[in-house]
Amino acid sequence: MQFEKIVSFINDLFGTDKVPLSVPVFIGNEKKYLNECIDTTFVSSVGKFVDRFESDMAAYTGCRRAVVCVSGTNALHMSLMLAGVERDDEVVTQALTFIATCNALSYIGAHPVFIDVDKDTMGMSPTALKEWLVSNCEIKDGECRNIRTGRRVKACVPMHTFGHPVHIDEMIAVCEEYHIELVEDAAESIGSLYKGKHTGTFGKIGALSFNGNKTITTGGGGMMLFNDEELGSLAKHITTQAKVPHRWEFRHDHIGYNYRMPNINAALGCAQLEHIEEYVASKRETAKAYEEFFKTIDDVEFFTEPADCRSNYWLNAVILNGRDAQQEFLQFTNDHGVMTRPIWELMNRLPMFEHCENDGLENTIWFADRVVNIPSSVRI
Ligand SMILES: Cc1ncc(COP(=O)(O)O)c(C=O)c1O
Repeated sequence: MQFEKIVSFINDLFGTDKVPLSVPVFIGNEKKYLNECIDTTFVSSVGKFVDRFESDMAAYTGCRRAVVCVSGTNALHMSLMLAGVERDDEVVTQALTFIATCNALSYIGAHPVFIDVDKDTMGMSPTALKEWLVSNCEIKDGECRNIRTGRRVKACVPMHTFGHPVHIDEMIAVCEEYHIELVEDAAESIGSLYKGKHTGTFGKIGALSFNGNKTITTGGGGMMLFNDEELGSLAKHITTQAKVPHRWEFRHDHIGYNYRMPNINAALGCAQLEHIEEYVASKRETAKAYEEFFKTIDDVEFFTEPADCRSNYWLNAVILNGRDAQQEFLQFTNDHGVMTRPIWELMNRLPMFEHCENDGLENTIWFADRVVNIPSSVRI
């Protein structure tokens, strides 16, 4: 029986018969840095690890400025605000994503428009985006407007699904043509490269997550990546209550947010980042092992990285034959100690977003009926 063979392969790969989907590993300076925070009492909003994590991440990703946040969701919320998204704007994004993408734009009072994904990336399709824009939008006074709703289409948020980069060059070209700001939801793609460059550094802003299930974790946390240093400085100011620097006075010059990551979380991040390349290498080794193994299994296809990319393979995915096979696979693996999960319920099927415009979502629905995520933790 095929499913038994799959479970046995996964048990052997991870060396256990209770295999979680994605758990963190702590093999470096985590305890040392955390103890340092406690010993020096710098556990909260001030401390050297926050600055260090930001500069280490800017160096690692190759962006000009990195700004920490309390979560990836906060990072997305702030990124959209800084990209100029306002109440009643439209934001084009994917229905195939984690809820945080849509929550973040909803906090501003903006409306999502759901664009289909590409079959080779599982991320937003620049071709589908262009088709939707050509049929539904016009440029007026330098802004993109949805002809039917009259609303401004201000930003585009593609998501690098499971760490696989979208077709970024084509996405940039479409966004430029239609005067739309590009904000990358790179929450899942730390360590993923597109043509050798880190995801999250192509758009106006890129948002990362360091939640416990991600490739590196700070317990909870997020980050914004900027190439525009001034915008990065503004982000830092607004995420720290917009306090005007002064040794003792409390003056604030803007509506601010308490979105700054505490030092204790940043300490964890610094220690984790020291091993990122080992983690990504391990994940890619696991993906290679899966790829070879699934060639021997009928009717289950392993999803591989797109061309010109290095994916971090944050979560490995297989494609089943259809919804029945997907459900049987989920039932069998979870009954036998191997944690697997379907893709998120599509955003356009949730009560908050079911009224929102979409382009038919042919590939999105195809994936929703077939994808299952399989165990993907770093093996070190
Ligand atoms: C695609 C995507 N966007 C945003 C987030 C939000 O990140 P966080 O959980 O850190 O708020 C996540 C992960 O959790 C995610 O997978």
